[in-house]
Amino acid sequence: MVPKYHWLAVLAAITLLAAPVFSQDKNTSTSNLSNPQIAGKQLFVGKECTACHTLAEKDEGEKTAMQSTRDDEWFAGHVAEHSEVILRDDRSSRRKRRTAAEEVDMLRAYLDGTTAAEKKQIDSMSEDVFKGAYLYAQNKCQNCHMIAGEGKDIGPDLSRVASKHDRAWLLKNLLDPKQFAPDTEMPSYEELGEQALNQIAAYLTTLK
Ligand code: HEC
Ligand code: HEC
Repeated sequence: MVPKYHWLAVLAAITLLAAPVFSQDKNTSTSNLSNPQIAGKQLFVGKECTACHTLAEKDEGEKTAMQSTRDDEWFAGHVAEHSEVILRDDRSSRRKRRTAAEEVDMLRAYLDGTTAAEKKQIDSMSEDVFKGAYLYAQNKCQNCHMIAGEGKDIGPDLSRVASKHDRAWLLKNLLDPKQFAPDTEMPSYEELGEQALNQIAAYLTTLK
């Protein structure tokens, strides 16, 4: 009798002790969220919407909370009026307009396209994951990959890519995809630099 319970106690202790260690690498799964839902928050902060607005449900001092009582056209005009396009530094005016529209869609995906529970989930993510999600959008990975049903399907769906590859592999693949698929269309992203690549890998690691 006693030894049996002993084992249970040992198992319980291991589980309890191990839990905080695992949660250090705390980034829980984000595969239920599309990329724009997460990247939209980084954009909200980067475009300095926070100078006049709070993300809280109620006004905070001078900063107003946002409900979506306005239509798309009003919203796009408001965003254009109050902020520069930051996602990409395009040369042609056609591309600039496209990027501006993409920013508006990303902001909408975050502000209006998330439930309260999803907003909370996004708020608990580490900075690396956020920035990685933003870099993913900035570098147009979505033109070839899908996450949570959004993007294009030229390359594999990445919604659960972290259950297939670890972080080290993901990083190596960003540096030189040809080492794994010699004829691949996927370009190398080496020129983004170590920090950015680590952040993209951190984001991809949450897709499990
Ligand atoms: C200089 C201050 C300022 C900045 C910067 C600013 N806004 Fe606003 N925003 C306002 C004001 C003032 C209103 C209310 C305007 C009105 O009701 O006509 C408003 C209204 C809104 C609304 C509508 C809220 C509602 O209840 O209908 C949304 C959504 C919004 N802003 C989003 C943004 C986003 C996203 C950004 C960043 C790109 C941004 N704003 C930047 C001042 C600002
Ligand atoms: C031009 C299209 C294209 C772009 C842009 C692109 N990829 Fe890929 N990617 C692919 C293809 C195709 C594959 C599959 C490898 C092959 O060719 O067999 C792939 C493979 C991958 C894999 C491995 C998937 C798996 O299931 O094994 C990851 C992870 C990945 N890409 C991430 C990214 C990220 C992150 C970006 C942006 C920084 C990006 N890709 C940009 C086309 C692309």
